[in-house]
Formats: sequence, C-alpha cells, structure tokens
Amino acid sequence: MDIQLLRTNARERLKPYCRVCRECDGKACAGEMPGLGGTGSGSSFMNNINALAQHKLNLRTLHSADSPDTQYAFLEKTLSAPLMAAPITAVGMQTGGKLSDKVWAESAVLGSEMAGTIAWTGDGPDPAHFQLGIEALTKHGVQGIPVIKPRENKDILEYIKRAEEAGALAVGIDVDAAGIINMKLKGQPVGPKNEQQLRDIVKSTSLPVFLKGIMTSDEADLAVKVGAAGIVVSNHGGRVLDHTPGAAEVLSEIASEVSGRIPVLVDGGIRSGADIVKMLALGADAVLIGRPLLVGAAGGGAEGVAFILNKLISEMKVSMILTGCSSLGGISSEILR
Ligand SMILES: Cc1cc2nc3c(=O)[nH]c(=O)nc-3n(C[C@H](O)[C@H](O)[C@H](O)COP(=O)(O)O)c2cc1C
Repeated sequence: MDIQLLRTNARERLKPYCRVCRECDGKACAGEMPGLGGTGSGSSFMNNINALAQHKLNLRTLHSADSPDTQYAFLEKTLSAPLMAAPITAVGMQTGGKLSDKVWAESAVLGSEMAGTIAWTGDGPDPAHFQLGIEALTKHGVQGIPVIKPRENKDILEYIKRAEEAGALAVGIDVDAAGIINMKLKGQPVGPKNEQQLRDIVKSTSLPVFLKGIMTSDEADLAVKVGAAGIVVSNHGGRVLDHTPGAAEVLSEIASEVSGRIPVLVDGGIRSGADIVKMLALGADAVLIGRPLLVGAAGGGAEGVAFILNKLISEMKVSMILTGCSSLGGISSEILR
C-alpha cells in the first residue's frame, strides 16, 4: 500500500463528504455536518490545527538517542506507541453511506490491532452505532474502549454492562456530547453530568472509566475527584461547540492540574508524528487519532488504518531522534521552543 493510492481511493469513495485535502485542517469542510467538518464556522476544528502549529520543536542531534523506544504501557496492555484510534460513529450518516459504520468499526478495531494498539469505539443517535463497535471488538476477539454518550444514567449503566460482557479494557463517556441535538431528536436524550451522576457511573463498574471531552482545569480536577481512570482533553474534533480553543492550547494547564494523578490523553488535529511528540511534550500521556483513520479506512480498510497508524509511529520515532528523546519519558516541555 502507498499513501498516494490510499488517499486517491479515499477521495473517490468519500466525495463530496470529504475531499481528503493535502492538509486535513477543517477549512474546505468548515461547517459541513453532515460531513466531516467542524460545527458552525468550523473554528474549533481549525483551532486544533492552529494550536499545534503554534508550537515549534527544538532540533537537536548531538546525542545518542538513535533508536527511540515508543512502547507505551496503558492499563494492562503494552501498546506499540502512545496512540490509539479515536471513537467515531454515525460515519454512514456523515458520508452519505459511502463508508458504512460496520466497515469503519471493523477497520478501526482490526487496523489498530495490526499496528499494535487499540481502538476506542463510539456511540451515536442510533443505538445500533454503539452495538457495531461492541460487535467489531467481540468478532475479532480484541479489547478496546467503548465510549458511551452522556445518556441518562440508567442507560449508561446498561451500556457499560454490554461493554463488560464484551471484555472491554475500559469504558469512556464523551461528556462533551451533552448538547448533541440529533441524539434528542432520535429519542436518545443526552445532557451534562453532575458530580453525583459521575460518581454513580464510576461506582457501577469495575472497569476503568475515562471522561472524554475535558477542556478546562477545574473539570479535569473534578474528573480525578469522582474517580475517573483518565481523561481525554478534546473538543470532539470541533464538532460540538463553535469557538472553543484547540486541544493543544489548553493541554499543558490541564496536565499541570492533573499532575500525574491519572493519565491525560488528548485528541484533535493530530496529523503527524511531530504533532504526537508535541502533545506529549505539552503533558499528554497518549493521543487519539480521528479523521486521518477515516481516510485510512475509506482508502484501504483495516490495512489502511494500520498503514496510517504505522506511518504516524515511524514519523514519531524520527521526531524523537531529532529532538534527542530516547524514550517517552524523555519527552518534556524542554523540546519545545
Ligand atoms: C464523523 C465523526 C464522528 C465522531 N463520533 C464520535 C463518537 O461517537 N464519540 C466520541 O467520543 N467522539 C466522536 N468523534 C470525535 C473523535 O473521537 C475525536 O475527538 C476527533 O475526531 C479528534 O479530532 P481529529 O479528527 O482532528 O483527529 C467523532 C468525530 C468525527 C469526525
């Protein structure tokens, strides 16, 4: 497989819903929902890209870090690198059926496994969306992290049971989806979660519970207090609220607040291995990759997803060599100018 062919295939398959731009930066698709753009003006998606571009890496080559170790211990697994597939659903709806939710879920789960990492799976306005993720995990006998929309607590607890039965590694709640209107329209109401509701969710399961969509330090602190196993700093790829900052803009203040008490993951606008290294330097433990893997799946199925993940890992290794980092632990804010 080569990247040009993969991108050409993906462009053909996804048009006009995604143009597979040279830079996936949210400009051409601004406001396209259904589609793969950011909501409203598209500023939140673009802010993810711009926030990462603000940071520059110090080029350093007078050292002996020539074969960096990217392996990452996450929960009870060792991943090939600190990157995982982000939860994505309603892909069929967003691409006019050109990439189905089933093909996406299977490609994400299998492709992640092929690249030595795991997939997070999502939840959408049709309850079948969540189920497709669970089925992809059980069919291929791999562990992943099903992420549940902030539904009513009784429904969340029921969805968690299904994740437990599927042998999930952990579960997540994308708390930033509290205002998604098409969930309500389809009779699947979502809303914000208060401290007690969060505690009840965490208490209901022996699985680690991640909160995805944390963008402020006070909510990161609350996540730690209620017993979350980790957080994902994320503005949902710019798809839930216009005019939010980029994830890379708020990451370091959130990581300082959490101060190693739980893992801090991040996503939004990560397009290269250098971007991953920047996120780790800003305080993230690991990253999730979204749209680039949709392109991988559309252009080459599970192999396409694995291809994109492996490309990111090899770019990450080069970035570590050229910033003098022999291990993940060696990546610190010092490598940023
Ligand atoms: C089409 C689409 C559907 C998504 N569905 C979900 C979802 O079901 N659950 C969730 O937590 N996040 C969802 N997200 C957000 C992603 O998990 C992730 O936060 C975002 O795509 C990261 O930004 P990136 O695409 O720029 O890498 C979705 C994103 C897109 C583009």
